[in-house]
Amino acid sequence: MKIKKAIFPVAGLGTRFLPATKAMPKEMLPVVDKPIIQYAVEEALASGIEQLIFVTGGGKTALENHFDRSYELEDTLRKRGKDDLLQTIESLVPKSGTIVYTRQSEPLGLGHAIWCARDIVGDEPFAVLLADDLIQNDVPVLHQMINEFDRLRASMVAIFEVPKEETSKYGILEAEPAHNGTVRIKSMIEKPDPAEAPSNLAAIGRYIFTPKIFDYLGMHKKGAGGEIQLTDAMVALLEDQPIFGYRFKGTRFDCGDKAGFQMANLAFALEHPEIRDTLKEYINTQVHKN
Ligand code: UTP
Repeated sequence: MKIKKAIFPVAGLGTRFLPATKAMPKEMLPVVDKPIIQYAVEEALASGIEQLIFVTGGGKTALENHFDRSYELEDTLRKRGKDDLLQTIESLVPKSGTIVYTRQSEPLGLGHAIWCARDIVGDEPFAVLLADDLIQNDVPVLHQMINEFDRLRASMVAIFEVPKEETSKYGILEAEPAHNGTVRIKSMIEKPDPAEAPSNLAAIGRYIFTPKIFDYLGMHKKGAGGEIQLTDAMVALLEDQPIFGYRFKGTRFDCGDKAGFQMANLAFALEHPEIRDTLKEYINTQVHKN
């Protein structure tokens, strides 16, 4: 079965970016000139996704407006002959009916946010993208995973190796090698201390799930940090169905973290034809200064 639907959980509070995120959703922070959520949406569309499901919360109207028409702005750009910008703005709006919004009335955790989209997804496999994880690669990571899903027909999460001292920032896997560079997950633990981590294989925010995951998310079991954790539902799903870890190709930036966000800006800016030369020159002067 084809993966046609993708969930974008965007109901978190983004406390690590306060005060910037007091009145603006974290997902609208720009990496160079695009909000981070737009990178995730473009990745999903380039991977064949047909329906975009946003799980939003209070104060996220800027995000909804971003993916909608802005007649006044379009009109002004048209009158000023700014055709390139006009085209950029118009191309942001997904086809009518392909974007769906639901609300998570309280930020009870990522697992709960995904569960909020259960009726929109229905009884079919689906993808989940966390915009915080921004990945630079020619072939979008979700596309890579969908290709793998066509072979494995099972739930899957993108993984990478982290330094042992960083395990407490991620969901960490206990896994055994499977085919084609994938691993078969035996268990998972959310944000373990390095001493308790079963490996240094960490999950990042790209998933494909069978709809069975909703049964376990619906149990609303509270886990690490008192939140309804996706990791706990995945561990429960393992009793029933296999889940694979997929080693993605690409460079990943954690845009949910201040340092990671700045690194993403630097990396994308250094590839941006309009600003890369100016930026390189500036970096050189700074390197020599420090
Ligand atoms: P984070 O753990 O990064 O939390 O959520 P956060 O609230 O966004 O940010 P900080 O830690 O306070 O700075 C990971 C993803 O899960 C979503 C977030 O929007 C983000 O995409 N999420 C988290 C929800 O949609 N609902 C929640 O209740 C929690």
